[in-house]
Amino acid sequence: MSVLTDPALQARIDALQAQSAAQEAVTVGYFMERAKKGDLSWDGLDAEANRFMADKLVALQPVKAEFCHMLCRALRATRVVEVGTSFGVSTLYLADAVRANGGGVVIGTEYEPAKAVQARANFAAAGAADLIDLREGDLRETLKAIEGPVDFVLMDIWTEMARPALELIAPHLRPGAVVVADNTDQFRHAYRHFFEFVDDPKNGLRTMTLPFDNGLELVVKV
Ligand SMILES: C[S@@+](CC[C@H](N)C(=O)[O-])C[C@H]1O[C@@H](n2cnc3c(N)ncnc32)[C@H](O)[C@@H]1O
Repeated sequence: MSVLTDPALQARIDALQAQSAAQEAVTVGYFMERAKKGDLSWDGLDAEANRFMADKLVALQPVKAEFCHMLCRALRATRVVEVGTSFGVSTLYLADAVRANGGGVVIGTEYEPAKAVQARANFAAAGAADLIDLREGDLRETLKAIEGPVDFVLMDIWTEMARPALELIAPHLRPGAVVVADNTDQFRHAYRHFFEFVDDPKNGLRTMTLPFDNGLELVVKV
């Protein structure tokens, strides 16, 4: 049984997850080829890789998205930030949880204009647009203003952006807030600046890597 409460939203998500899965082999192949040539840096995508990724959904794995939904329900989250929106698949899970919690907002972030157009269409089709504040542009600008406390954060972004995003959001985390970051085992090295921030005692965070595929970080504001 799905954690989602809305069948229309579930149907939209199923179609988008299938679209994302269909792109996966090509994406993995692209990065393997670049890695073989030795011209790939995990400290940031270059212009060519950015062009390649411009139409890729790279949606959060369903079981991880469902886990985020469950955490949002447990936290009674009404103010959520999503770092990395793409076509908005995980955003829809988060919006569904926020609606079930009585309403609120999911702040989304996306710098590819074409992806933002797709995301907005998906939010409208799923009847969730009223719950989502999609901020277009570089998150280092769009997350400068966060009005009010944050209950939950999904960090599903190119790894070099994880620390800048967390630095902007951390002052707004309420005690007990949770930050989930994807693929922290797979990209441990690329995430090193993020972990320096998380592990710094003055930031009041505790963390644990959960054994989902490639690792899923569970960070708690204590
Ligand atoms: C892994 S995808 C997000 C997938 C999405 N959470 C989902 O489950 O459908 C990461 C997204 O972050 C976007 N992105 C990367 N760097 C960004 C930045 N500096 N500011 C805003 N968005 C950025 C990329 O264009 C990409 O669409």
